[in-house]
Amino acid sequence: MSAPASAAPTQDELKTLVGRAALEYVVRGEIVGVGTGSTVNKFIDALAAIKDEIKGAVSSSVASTERLRALGIEVFDSNAVDELAVYIDGADEIDGRGHMIKGGGAALTREKIVAAQSRRFVCIADASKRVEVLGAFPLPVEIIPMAARRLMRQFAALGGVAQVRENDGLPLVTDNGQHILDVTGLKIADPLAFESGVNQWPGVVTVGVFAHQKAQVCLLATPEGVKTLHYD
Ligand code: 5RP
Repeated sequence: MSAPASAAPTQDELKTLVGRAALEYVVRGEIVGVGTGSTVNKFIDALAAIKDEIKGAVSSSVASTERLRALGIEVFDSNAVDELAVYIDGADEIDGRGHMIKGGGAALTREKIVAAQSRRFVCIADASKRVEVLGAFPLPVEIIPMAARRLMRQFAALGGVAQVRENDGLPLVTDNGQHILDVTGLKIADPLAFESGVNQWPGVVTVGVFAHQKAQVCLLATPEGVKTLHYD
């Protein structure tokens, strides 16, 4: 009789796997940039095991800061650090060139700030996040609330449908005190130009396309194991 086939790993198990795999990219003796989200939470939990080997972290959200501190990892203000060797974060989508959509956890602005001060962006994701063209996931855009109606019309002119993200029936308020638009119906064929263009619209704080701050490495968790993709 043949042995029973082992069950495919759950998405949660894949996130744990890739969160642990990211430890290899943490530069010992330095401060690490830490993103936000359920995959990063697995990374933070794994980071606790080597907390005595790093100086601490710069965090991209209140939620990650609280989780890091609860595990005894020191969190530094991003202004206290010139440059980080590596930033580790998840993504909602990643294409074949390391361009991403991020912001499903509403932390996109701080994520882009910490990514911009890091020499290397290591994206950790499960295989469901890998796409050919960005745009299947609703694009998050952090905005100044008074600009919402006009920005919704500007996205409509591009063929998108924008909605203010809500939490318990009220507009969600980000860590920066602003709102989020989620835009569906876009196909982002030129992420660099799209990011530059939308970031110029008055009232946009940050668009959730990460093309100028793209990933250099993606650790992609698949049922067959973690695949390492390079985009340098
Ligand atoms: C938060 C983000 C996250 O990285 C993104 O939403 C992926 O999250 P998860 O790991 O929970 O799927 O951009 O703003």
